[in-house]
Amino acid sequence: MPATTTEAAIGALKESEAGERRVALDPAAAASLAKLGHVVLIESGAGDEASFPDAAYVASGATILSRANVIARADVVAVVRAPGASLLSKLRSGQTIVGLLDPLNNLATVKDLAARRVTMVAFELLPRTLSRAQSMDALSSQASAAGYRAAIVAAEAFGRYLPMLITASGTATPAKVIVIGTGVAGLQAIATTRRLGAVVTGYDVRAASRHEVESLGATFLTSTIAQAEGNGGYAKALTPEQQAEQQSELAAALKSFDVIITTAKVPGRTPPMLVTKQTLDALRPGSICIDLGSSERGGNVDGSVVGTKTLTQGGVTIIGAGELASDLPTSASQMYGRNVVAVIASLLPSGVFALDPSDEVHRNIVVCTDGEVVNAAIRAALGLATNPAESDDGKVLAS
Ligand code: NAI
Repeated sequence: MPATTTEAAIGALKESEAGERRVALDPAAAASLAKLGHVVLIESGAGDEASFPDAAYVASGATILSRANVIARADVVAVVRAPGASLLSKLRSGQTIVGLLDPLNNLATVKDLAARRVTMVAFELLPRTLSRAQSMDALSSQASAAGYRAAIVAAEAFGRYLPMLITASGTATPAKVIVIGTGVAGLQAIATTRRLGAVVTGYDVRAASRHEVESLGATFLTSTIAQAEGNGGYAKALTPEQQAEQQSELAAALKSFDVIITTAKVPGRTPPMLVTKQTLDALRPGSICIDLGSSERGGNVDGSVVGTKTLTQGGVTIIGAGELASDLPTSASQMYGRNVVAVIASLLPSGVFALDPSDEVHRNIVVCTDGEVVNAAIRAALGLATNPAESDDGKVLAS
């Protein structure tokens, strides 16, 4: 790619969330940005938890600075997770922040950044089904890491072998695993538990996921409330009646499984409750539930608490595993770094932030810029009038 005509300073900081081990730029991403003509600024120690020492960044052409200096000098600040108020309050007019910023659940932050003319770029809003957006798809890269880790965490917690083993001392039957929610994380969990030798089933309300589950050699458990995909390939929220029906069909089906991995999410909604107390009570002692849907807003498994391992009275272990990609910090950061580079190459084609309203990626991933909320879904969530540049059929016109 040609070098940029104007150099921008791209900064990465140590993540603010306690226990988060990923970093937004790995040394390879820093080298790619330097090759594009940018100056790369890394907070000292930002990559330590992901096994990227400061020296590796220096060798990639980056400059190591204090946190305050990175924030002061960067035109673009890259983060993995939504930062706290102490960083947000320091961002200034004309500066850009890019990351998994969860804008639908942080509307007050959107309003604040827009009012201060900070540009906010959120990976969650990327139109992921566009093929040219795939290199920017941080939701997928991180979900893939989380799904892989879910299988490993389950294998670690389970007191039995996952594969079938025939030995002189006896035969171990293979563990029965079910993965509920077979999007990116779920499919990776299926692939990994299969590699570990378990007998694996997948379940999803999106009927379209059947062939993906079966292509990995797993069995698909058909839901009576199978539905067509909603916008962007996502599941739609179920009605209260459908939720009750789903909980009872799962209660009957889950009894025979040893390991349950749940990943079910609906964008902008509380994760659906899938494994109820009644279902947990019917599981055998020693069974394991890994809840990737777990967050402060609830989870897919009754009683799951994010970041916590709980043992039920019936001997079932529930692991609230909201941010498992952080447990694979090196690989997850390497993939995330590539996503950040791809977004920066698109949004700063000549070194200066340039929103192209005719570009479907730009008008979705950019939440606010120049004092205005530009993403249509976030405008709607904030109760703002339809974007003036938007036509009647909902398509944003090139200005
Ligand atoms: P997600 O993280 O939003 O949800 C995980 C899974 O939970 C989904 O498969 C969803 O259908 C399922 N789910 C939601 N509610 C459920 C319920 N009540 N019961 C059972 N399952 C439930 O999904 P993710 O991984 O972000 O993927 C969303 C979609 O986007 C998928 O269709 C995926 O294949 C598609 N996708 C397409 C890409 C592309 O075309 N390049 C890239 C990434 C994703």
